[in-house]
Amino acid sequence: RSSNYVRLVEVGPRDGLQNEPHPIPPPIKADLVNRLGQAGIQSLEVGSFVSPRWIPQMAGTAEVLALIDPLPMADYAVLVPNMKGLDEVLRILAASKSPDSAAKPPPPVTEIAIFTAATDAFAQANTNVTVSESLARLAPVARAALDAKLKVRGYVSVIITCPYSGRVDPKRIRDVARELFQMGCYEVSLGDTTGAGTPASIRAALEEVLKEADGHRLAGHFHDTNGTALANIFAALELGVRTFDTSVGGLGGCPYSPGATGNVATEDVVYALTGESLYGDSGEPYSVDSQSPDLKAKWDVGPVSLPLLAETGAWISEILGRETTSRAGRAYLAR
Ligand code: HMG
Ligand code: MG
Repeated sequence: RSSNYVRLVEVGPRDGLQNEPHPIPPPIKADLVNRLGQAGIQSLEVGSFVSPRWIPQMAGTAEVLALIDPLPMADYAVLVPNMKGLDEVLRILAASKSPDSAAKPPPPVTEIAIFTAATDAFAQANTNVTVSESLARLAPVARAALDAKLKVRGYVSVIITCPYSGRVDPKRIRDVARELFQMGCYEVSLGDTTGAGTPASIRAALEEVLKEADGHRLAGHFHDTNGTALANIFAALELGVRTFDTSVGGLGGCPYSPGATGNVATEDVVYALTGESLYGDSGEPYSVDSQSPDLKAKWDVGPVSLPLLAETGAWISEILGRETTSRAGRAYLAR
């Protein structure tokens, strides 16, 4: 991939829908994943295998997987908090290989995401253990997933502030990220869970973590509570980070981060990185078929369709009885 390629990891079906007050039926979740794939997103986080007592909204992930139409080039990830979650993923994958399921395609899981935090208080609230206990619990999970030929991605939550213990020291993020890399994570996604970050604080956090790992092994996962997520992405791009987690329609939040809103909207990130090229020579916005040669976008997000993303963001928001928070999505639909 060229140095201006930016990978978008769509987390709306997981981070977005885990935070909805009412469970969403699996066929709708799978439809969301399929629409996002058709819009050109190639990295998709589709659900989680966590305790349904803790996050009832993610209970139907096995059914969601069975309903996805997998795209050959795409990666499909699920969140896993412990060995029980991974065992369930492996059981589903093994079942699809048994002779009596020959007619069915295997469920599309190519990757698991393991998650911990930069503070004990958040790790306790989210996973009922301290950070070091969670790392000890996750190491064998990562090993077993790698043995099963699954990719493993790691998350560090609360990189800026913790809702329970306040400001976070960037050295803590670096230490936790190092352990996740040592376990075999190909990438560590840095979660500004509360959305408190600004370009200055994100830069300070990244400068510390970059002592540990190259920018291309890090991802930014910025919730947009204060409207700074897009600015934070550009701060991270300047420091060499090339992967960002985004959420169509701006869906999401974390049930253990009170008041935090969703991730930065996928549509807004796509627009900010490439949108100028959608203005045709006549100055008419969104003439997608007649891109102006003068306005070649600096960043390449792959064959992603902003119109299809905007429609998907509006579609799922309507189902959830809310409005999309994506500015670019709304602007496209109102054109
Ligand atoms: P616990 O209560 O300490 O664990 O929870 P336990 O082993 O005592 O299990 C409790 C019950 O859950 C038992 O059931 C287990 O069988 C069951 P019971 O006997 O009471 O009927 N259980 C499971 N069921 C299904 N799948 C499993 C599983 N594990 C246990 N994998 C635990 C510990 C880690 C399980 C729990 O705290 C948990 O599931 N936490 C997940 C929380 C979560 O999903 N949070 C949101 C995702 S993280 C996030 O949003 C942040 C991120 O976006 C980045 C950012 O923004 O910062 C990634
Ligand atoms: Mg999140």
